[in-house]
Amino acid sequence: MLVTNKELLDAARDGKYAVGAFNINNMEFIQAITETAGELNSPAILAVSEGAIKYAGFENLVSMVRIAAQRENTKFSLHLDHGKDMKVIEQCIENGFTSVMIDGSHLPFEENIAVTREVVQKAASRGVSVEGELGKLAGIEDNVSVSEQDAKFTDPDEVVQFVESTGVDSLAVAIGTSHGAYKFKGEPRLGMNRLSEIVSRVSIPLVLHGASGVNREHVEIANRFGADIGDARGVPDDAIREAVKRGISKVNIDTDMRIAFTTFIRKKFFDDPGGFDPRKYLGAGREAIAGVVKVKIKLFGSENKVA
Ligand code: G3H
Ligand code: 13P
Ligand code: ZN
Repeated sequence: MLVTNKELLDAARDGKYAVGAFNINNMEFIQAITETAGELNSPAILAVSEGAIKYAGFENLVSMVRIAAQRENTKFSLHLDHGKDMKVIEQCIENGFTSVMIDGSHLPFEENIAVTREVVQKAASRGVSVEGELGKLAGIEDNVSVSEQDAKFTDPDEVVQFVESTGVDSLAVAIGTSHGAYKFKGEPRLGMNRLSEIVSRVSIPLVLHGASGVNREHVEIANRFGADIGDARGVPDDAIREAVKRGISKVNIDTDMRIAFTTFIRKKFFDDPGGFDPRKYLGAGREAIAGVVKVKIKLFGSENKVA
């Protein structure tokens, strides 16, 4: 069944667990995520970026997700991830998405509020949920001091005004994570006290982007079979557990599935050099995604949480 992010995330906030938002680009990802969530009786969010729409085609993704979601006895949401183009956001609101993110995090505060409020107004008539973002998910850069890094994080003093002025259903916060496989140099550092401060000031679900753990075992296997993934480093599982405990209700995962998919396709090519049946190697990739999703659902505590 397809429901809104609001329905999934309000329940998660009350129940003190988080729902995984898993990015999809093709059929194999959709099948792996929906089947694994169904097996574990877990809600899940199918996240679609503007790039995914460009790659796979809007109707293709919406129809595949609708059919896959109907098949399982659990709740899913179809969510636009990092919406920036108003035309794409409107297309999603009008044509079957149950949730959209408007990412105005790169804009000055007042402009972020204005564009987010506009999306909330557009989404309201269709009963579509809206996620906003405040603060910047910057990667760790060389020659940037801790205080300069912190300046990009979500300012707890701004969240109440942002939430009240926009009417968003959920809010993505920046506390030190970043997108991709190279999140930290040295020890991972996340602003847990900042997160608790934000949690204490608002009563809507909060979202953690850039939350992949970057499985070292997968990276080693990938490198053994021809990849060159250097000093990749993600968010440790303990930090995810701590963030969920402190009040994160939605955790976004893309990189971990991309790495797993690619790793086990590489391995398949090596193990079966004479093979050229796409079902064989894409099947190996699909199985690897299912493995990642299973681990994440257990980590986030959403197993058996379908009301
Ligand atoms: O946060 C972004 C997601 O990982 C999607 O990435 O824009 O390359 O599809 P993408
Ligand atoms: P990762 O790159 O850490 O998987 O983050 C994904 C994400 O935030 C998608 O919006
Ligand atoms: Zn993101």
